[in-house]
Amino acid sequence: MAAPLPPRTDDWWRDAAIYQIYPRSFADGDGDGTGDLAGVRAKLPYLAQLGVDAVWFTPWYASPLIDGGYDVADYRTIDPAFGTLAEAEKLIAEARNLGIRTIVDVVPNHVSDQHAWFQAALAAGPGSAERERFHFRPGRGPDGELPPNDWPSQFSGTTWTRVPDGEWYLHLFTPEQPDLNWANPEVRREHEDVLRFWFERGVAGVRIDSAALPAKAPGLPDFVEGVDPHPYIDQDDLHDIYRSWRAIADEYGAVFVGEVWLPDAERFARYLRPDELHTAFNFNFLTCPWDAGRLHRAIDDTLAEHAPVGAPATWVLCNHDVTRTVTRYGREDTGFDFATKTFGTPTDLELGTRRARAAALLTLALPGSVYVYQGEELGLPEADIPHDRIQDPMHYRSGGTDPGRDGCRVPMPWAADEPYSGFGSGTEPWLPQPDDWPVHAADRQATDPDSMLALYREALRLRRSGTGFGDGPLTWLPAPEGVLSFARTDGLMCLVNLSAGAVGLPAHRTRLLSSGPLDEEGQLPRDTAVWLRA
Ligand code: GLC
Repeated sequence: MAAPLPPRTDDWWRDAAIYQIYPRSFADGDGDGTGDLAGVRAKLPYLAQLGVDAVWFTPWYASPLIDGGYDVADYRTIDPAFGTLAEAEKLIAEARNLGIRTIVDVVPNHVSDQHAWFQAALAAGPGSAERERFHFRPGRGPDGELPPNDWPSQFSGTTWTRVPDGEWYLHLFTPEQPDLNWANPEVRREHEDVLRFWFERGVAGVRIDSAALPAKAPGLPDFVEGVDPHPYIDQDDLHDIYRSWRAIADEYGAVFVGEVWLPDAERFARYLRPDELHTAFNFNFLTCPWDAGRLHRAIDDTLAEHAPVGAPATWVLCNHDVTRTVTRYGREDTGFDFATKTFGTPTDLELGTRRARAAALLTLALPGSVYVYQGEELGLPEADIPHDRIQDPMHYRSGGTDPGRDGCRVPMPWAADEPYSGFGSGTEPWLPQPDDWPVHAADRQATDPDSMLALYREALRLRRSGTGFGDGPLTWLPAPEGVLSFARTDGLMCLVNLSAGAVGLPAHRTRLLSSGPLDEEGQLPRDTAVWLRA
């Protein structure tokens, strides 16, 4: 049995720092070029030293890895490329012993086309109970040669694929990810069972993939621009599903974080009602450009939309689907394109790094929980992947116009002087690492007090041990144009300078940490943040 955790238990998630692991690219323990659980286990001391409260694993289940594991073939086994179920159980227990909880990813919208259910549906044919678990339909047109409806895909391309017997099946993502039919009770029962399966193994939380997509409008009507409700986004039936999930989580004291991309604040907050999800990712903050006014508004809107439901906010700068923070903030145009989930054009990495450091202090000072995507603590830039090495289906489905998401999924640099920057000892990693990867290696940064890693470690240490951080009120303070200044409790204050020049600091405060040096006059330079205490 795992040892009990330190106090602060029940509502740990309200202000946790959660580290996102993309297993394929974190650390390669067996030297086959793909990250694995052995690699993660070896790096647990690194994570403990970094000072995170939990790790979230993107899918680690058996999968053909067409969409990086978001095409799950079997929820109850670990993909052999990553390890075994027994190893996952060990990992969960070892992490707990270090005070680190585990969050797994569940993907209710779809499964892999290799999943036993889909294979059975193909074999059983039209009209069968097996097909009822998915959305199979005859086509339109005289010979059924046209797709059953006109739904746009979440990736580019069609949402319907025809099978040899003439029926079509729905897939909001790739054809290898058939959508499940959530009106079917078996689908609900199966997922409730999967939740229990992982909670029984000591998992403390579940991230819900594409959480606003699984329920579909009855009859799968055509999509009509501007007409609400959308036939597959944010359907009301979802709330009943998540209420039953919540009841299960409550039995285990486990928590949810939903991937809910919804621009409407009121609709978003409905998922966070007390008997539904505990938290959801805050994409408004992630997609906000580096602009004081816009960030101020994004923070206010976030806090205002969470307050009525009593849920803590989450703060996310990056994940496995978006351009790396230093690259994004290094662009003049940091605007976000929702369709391709990517950001603006050419980049100044030095500027981007300065801003990413400031953004880290901003994010870690805000009320709620915070997510750190692997490699953000090393300040990794987005990598250019040669076209013939790109694996992300988003790239292929766009006809090669969208670079896809592999640039933020490049295997981690651990040791500057080792082959493949210490990612693994043997084969070349599954995605190529840029030539300058050793510069960013964790071992090099660990001994450099000015490194991104040192900044994250110190900030997380202060956030964990100091008062005034995490959950609780935030009060904006008067500040010059272009400067964000707010107080938390216990005299804690955060100042972020997004203006064009340096600004003075308030008197009689102790400087806890700054994202860069102050200038000769003791002023806070542009694109720099500081934490102060009265
Ligand atoms: C989510 C995941 C993304 C995946 C998609 C389909 O958006 O974060 O990586 O491609 O869902 O499962």
